[in-house]
Parts: sequence; structure tokens; C-alpha cells
Amino acid sequence: MLKNLQNKWKVSSTQFVLILCTFATTGTLTAYISRSITHWLQLDASSDWGLRLAIRLLVLVFGYQVIILIVSFFFGQFSFFWNYEKKILRRMGLLKPSKAAIAIFASGKGSNAKKIIQYFENHSFIHVKLIVCNKPGAGVLEIAAQHNIPTLLIEKNAFFNSEEYLQSIKNQGITHIVLAGFLWKLPHYLIQAFPSKIINIHPALLPNYGGKGMYGEKVHQAVIDAGEQESGISIHLVDEEYDHGKTIFQAKVAVHSSDTADSLAEKIHSLEHQHFPTEIEKWINQH
Ligand code: GRF
Repeated sequence: MLKNLQNKWKVSSTQFVLILCTFATTGTLTAYISRSITHWLQLDASSDWGLRLAIRLLVLVFGYQVIILIVSFFFGQFSFFWNYEKKILRRMGLLKPSKAAIAIFASGKGSNAKKIIQYFENHSFIHVKLIVCNKPGAGVLEIAAQHNIPTLLIEKNAFFNSEEYLQSIKNQGITHIVLAGFLWKLPHYLIQAFPSKIINIHPALLPNYGGKGMYGEKVHQAVIDAGEQESGISIHLVDEEYDHGKTIFQAKVAVHSSDTADSLAEKIHSLEHQHFPTEIEKWINQH
């Protein structure tokens, strides 16, 4: 269980111990402070229990958040806890979300890219800032031009054997990467540079019908050949294996006996268009 927590927080063993010490110290300190305050206010068993409870709750709920930041500073864990606090404040609507700049990576016609661009066109804090494409003449480049979004046309050797594109992507202030029909596997340096900040959409219900070579028509044909009654879409975090990272969203669609790879592709595309932009928004809100 502790190991799971450490993996979830993505911290080293030493940092994990320091974080647990912060929680433990904060818990003890908060209880002590809460008791001292009620004592200082001379609130004892004979006083109004409602007032005593309110003061205790105030210290436990709000005081705790302040105390944990102070304690974390002494354990050298301030930035971990400050990020944690910011998440809570954002969820409560008390802190404005920080701006997110998306780079969409796509290799094809870009119908998903188009929907995403349109969805975020007038968004208050999420913007599509860059289209990265590996195919000269791909439809997605035309879409980027129509919406005045800068493009980066990448070349295989430089992408896989150097980090020169990483600099261009960083120069645009990119915070999140969305793969929407991008056919190359991402190199290690890029995944390292954007930990948990890259998602992909796959046109089937992972973990089935994914992996190397499973893209476009091939996916839908395989689903039909297997006689599946349903297919769908999967949105997942990207790691160093094809279609492998944690799935964050799935939606299903029925496969009928009359379906062909083309008709299934059409149904899947509309499911993607319906869900991808909103799921990106939810994902960014949480990260
Ligand atoms: C989508 O079906 C997506 O699931 C897959 O590639 C396709 C891209 O389509 N990864 P488009 O270029 O967005 O139309």
C-alpha cells in the first residue's frame, strides 16, 4: 500500500519518508495547537459545546493546511505540499487554474485536432499553442494554418537521435502534449520532460487491439474479424510502450454485424470528437 502511494506521488524513497514525517508531525502539532487554543480561550467541558467544536474544526480544517506548509518547509518538502495545497484550492474554486498550453501531435487528417482547437479557442486558461506533425502535406497542417496555430514539422532522425525539437517545444511554453493520431512512438527524452503530461487517444477499448502496428483501419478490421459486439475509444497517459499508459477514460459503441471497418471508423470518430476535448479539459484541470 505504501509502495503504491510512493508510486502515485512519483517520489524517491527518501522523499517519501520525509513526506510521511511531515504528515505525522503536522497531525500531532495540529492536535496540540487546537487543544492549546481551546484551553487559552478557557473553553472546557462546561462551555458551549458548539463553540468548542467550531474552534476545533477551524483549527483542524484550515489551520492544518497552514501548519502542514510550515512543517513541510523544515523537512525540505515545501514544494511538494504547496502543489498539493494548490490542487485543493483549485478544486474548491479558490485559486485560478494556471495557464495550460497544449501541443497537439498528429500525423494525419487531423479531425480530432480540429475539434480540440475549436473547443479551446475561447477558453480562459487552456490554449492550443502548437501542432507537431511528421508528415509534410498532412491535413492537420492545413487545419493549423486556418486557425493561425504555429506548426513544427519534424524529421525522423532529429526527433529520435537528438533533443533539438524539445527546445522548440519548450520555447513555446508547452505544458501538456496531446497525441491525436500521431504514429511515431515518443522518445524517452520527451516522456521524461513531460511526466504525466502526455495523453493519447486510441480508437479501441484498450488493453485490447492496441500496440505496435495497431492503428487506423487495422484496429477496426481486427475488432470486426474477432466478432466483437462492442468497440470504443480509450484515452490514456503515454509511456514508453505503444498504447500502454494508464487509461483515464473509455467510451463504448456497439458493433453490428453489418458494420465494416469504414462504418466502425466513422462511429469511433464521432465518439472521439464528442469526448476528447472535454476529457482533455478535465485531465488538465486535475493536473
Ligand atoms: C483517431 O481515430 C485516433 O483514435 C487515432 O488516430 C485517428 C486520428 O484521426 N489515434 P484524425 O486524424 O484526428 O481524424
